[in-house]
Amino acid sequence: MKRIENIGVFTSGGDSPGMNAAIRAVVRTGIWEGFDMYGIYRGYEGMIDGQIEPLYSHSVSNIIQRGGTILKTARSKRFMTPEGRQQAFGNLEKHKINALVAIGGNGTFTGAAEFTKEYEIPFIGLPGTIDNDLYGTDYTIGFDTAINNVIEAADKIRDTATSHDRLFFIQVMGRDSGYIALWSGVACGAEFILVPETKTYIDNLTRLVKHDIRKNKTSGIVIVAEGDDAGNAESIAAQVKERMPELETRVTILGHIQRGGSPSAWDRMLASILGYASIKALKEGQQGVMVGLINKQIVYTPFEEAIKNRKGIILDLLEMSRVLAL
Ligand code: F6P
Repeated sequence: MKRIENIGVFTSGGDSPGMNAAIRAVVRTGIWEGFDMYGIYRGYEGMIDGQIEPLYSHSVSNIIQRGGTILKTARSKRFMTPEGRQQAFGNLEKHKINALVAIGGNGTFTGAAEFTKEYEIPFIGLPGTIDNDLYGTDYTIGFDTAINNVIEAADKIRDTATSHDRLFFIQVMGRDSGYIALWSGVACGAEFILVPETKTYIDNLTRLVKHDIRKNKTSGIVIVAEGDDAGNAESIAAQVKERMPELETRVTILGHIQRGGSPSAWDRMLASILGYASIKALKEGQQGVMVGLINKQIVYTPFEEAIKNRKGIILDLLEMSRVLAL
């Protein structure tokens, strides 16, 4: 294995709060260990286009508290082609970058797995996505901030829902994963939580809404994960309304508000721990792995394994949420 000289760091896929804290940790630990650090802008896109610049300790000052990513991010179709990857490797060689740290999600690690099959380069991944759907870590960087963003909005909606005796359908992010819906739903006391992992039966939902009304509930919140099989929040609200025309319903789609804002203390902490661990992993000779935290221990999961497996939600929490909201 070649001696590591320069390390490139980049963010890729959907941004998540805490990515900056991770960049800071990677860069400063790298410098501490004696490496020259480079920032690659706009993820794999910037690697292909040669958007690469040196990063110093001061380059990452004053960013731990900022959402988004100073390195920008993108989803790259070109990196999925051998030509794109070859061009990217050429640009790394120009800067003598012979090790990489990527902060991103499933798509990022899929690209990394392909790249490391073709080119011999130590490559470490850090889990950065609000979805918390990555296998090999209990939490991903950004999830905690995202669910706090959701409950802040849901608490406000609760005020107006109660005043008007309305049933609100709040759509949250999570194309393929109900993590955000489930955790924010429990934390805001939602009456119903609809996730892609379980089938949603509108008749069943309507029956439960009627049951709540009989129990003297006059308002409520339904958290809908955007990937729910019964449709989006608009469509589910319409289907319930069709069965209960007397019900006053409203729909709020939270959208990208969930992904922004200053990272929570936990996301900053997690990002710092994993960013520091990524450089230690490179020094130990690790390659082609995602660094995660499971039961408070650093765990390395090979990219192939991280991509192949899905971290499922704890379905018991769904039942619990219903009991607690009754
Ligand atoms: O993967 C993170 C995520 O925020 C998902 O929850 C969501 O479905 C998707 O990204 C949205 O992507 P975009 O920002 O490209 O609209």
